[in-house]
Amino acid sequence: MYKLVIKGGTTLNGIVKIAGSKNAALPILFASILADGPINLNNTPHLSDVSTTLRLLMDMGAEFILESDNSLSIDSSKLTKLTGEYDLVKTMRASILALGPMLAKYKEAKISLPGGCAIGTRPVNLHLKALEDLGAKIHVKNGYIYATTDQLIGTDIHFEQVSVTATENILMAATLAKGLTTIHNAAQEPEIIDLVNCLIKMGAKITGAGTSIISVEGVSSLSGARHSVCPDRIEAGTYLIAAAITGGKVTLKNVRYQSMQSVLDKLKETGAEIDYNDNTITLDMKGKRPKAVNVKTSVYPNFPTDMQAQFCALNCIADGQSAITETIFENRFMHIPELSRMGADLTLEGNTVICKGVKSLTGANLMATDLRASASLVLAGLAATGTTTIERVYHLDRGYETIEEKLKLLGAQIERIQD
Ligand code: UD1
Repeated sequence: MYKLVIKGGTTLNGIVKIAGSKNAALPILFASILADGPINLNNTPHLSDVSTTLRLLMDMGAEFILESDNSLSIDSSKLTKLTGEYDLVKTMRASILALGPMLAKYKEAKISLPGGCAIGTRPVNLHLKALEDLGAKIHVKNGYIYATTDQLIGTDIHFEQVSVTATENILMAATLAKGLTTIHNAAQEPEIIDLVNCLIKMGAKITGAGTSIISVEGVSSLSGARHSVCPDRIEAGTYLIAAAITGGKVTLKNVRYQSMQSVLDKLKETGAEIDYNDNTITLDMKGKRPKAVNVKTSVYPNFPTDMQAQFCALNCIADGQSAITETIFENRFMHIPELSRMGADLTLEGNTVICKGVKSLTGANLMATDLRASASLVLAGLAATGTTTIERVYHLDRGYETIEEKLKLLGAQIERIQD
């Protein structure tokens, strides 16, 4: 097991290259099941969730070739086993994204139900109900989802709640369904647009991605394609906060500011100066203490739940009192007790954290609990006086490519050490 050891108090300065988006790469890798040829994917991030996805697809008969550092070719066109095993699925809930493509291409699928999750119950009822609406027969037995169909038939799908992966699962299934599927109350995240762009290159007929109504006209087959994964807006936001929380100046390369507007607006409210152009974003805190900002998570284009914990860390040392309200996941506050151990003044009231900013945090031994909570602990450690150790770093490796290397390039004193 690895842990991170951070000596806090260094002002971060420099340039960091942002990786391809985890939440775009995963659905696109699962979309390879739909294709009759290989998908060549550039800008693929080096993350354990990507490795898990590749292992799951290989276990089902896919083959992949690493073409260069960030580019791979995956051929999932001839799966020999239509089962997503528990041991692979349990570590990554996004595995449910294999269900729609397998059902559409092979007319059957068996996938382990994703297990519990630290940030809430995270059921998959929306995925299953919408697949049933498309004509799938589904039952759950011994922890597995069994799905079969004679032929998926396009229809109107009305999601009672906005869900990112449910939207992705259904639109992937609909690409090979017969006739027109219209998804109402679809999620509008940029990662959905990226998935749809790749599906269109594969020959899918899809309109409306990025709006709440997506239409998919089914086709009889899809081909291989070449695609470049969009930048990771959550990784990008995390490094901007690393600059803001240490009073520094950081320039991000390989980013799209257009998909980060709500986060950039909040960072401006803290007093940060932000400049951007087509491919870069620079945040300059000019050595100032950030001002506290209220945050309320919601669906895109509003403030993302995946940035909530990081803003919580920022508010801990900010000037003033703030309220952070989480409306997407009911239990996404695992970072609160850990930040409190560093001297943060945080009070949880229902789904809102009241944060009274303190001048500085003190280093402590901390336990990473889930991906974004862990990122908030790293940020707090960078700002704190003294040494912070963070155990269970594998949570961070799911979504941050070589986080300690990138932070070191910005001047952070951070090491990964083995227990
Ligand atoms: C995706 C992202 C995750 C992000 C989340 C919200 C990926 C791989 N993961 O997760 O990083 O935090 O969107 O932006 O893209 N729900 C149900 N039933 C369902 C599905 C969801 O009740 O069948 C609920 C969830 O419990 C949650 C809400 O809907 O309260 C939104 O979750 P959802 O958008 O589905 O999150 P994910 O797609 O799992």
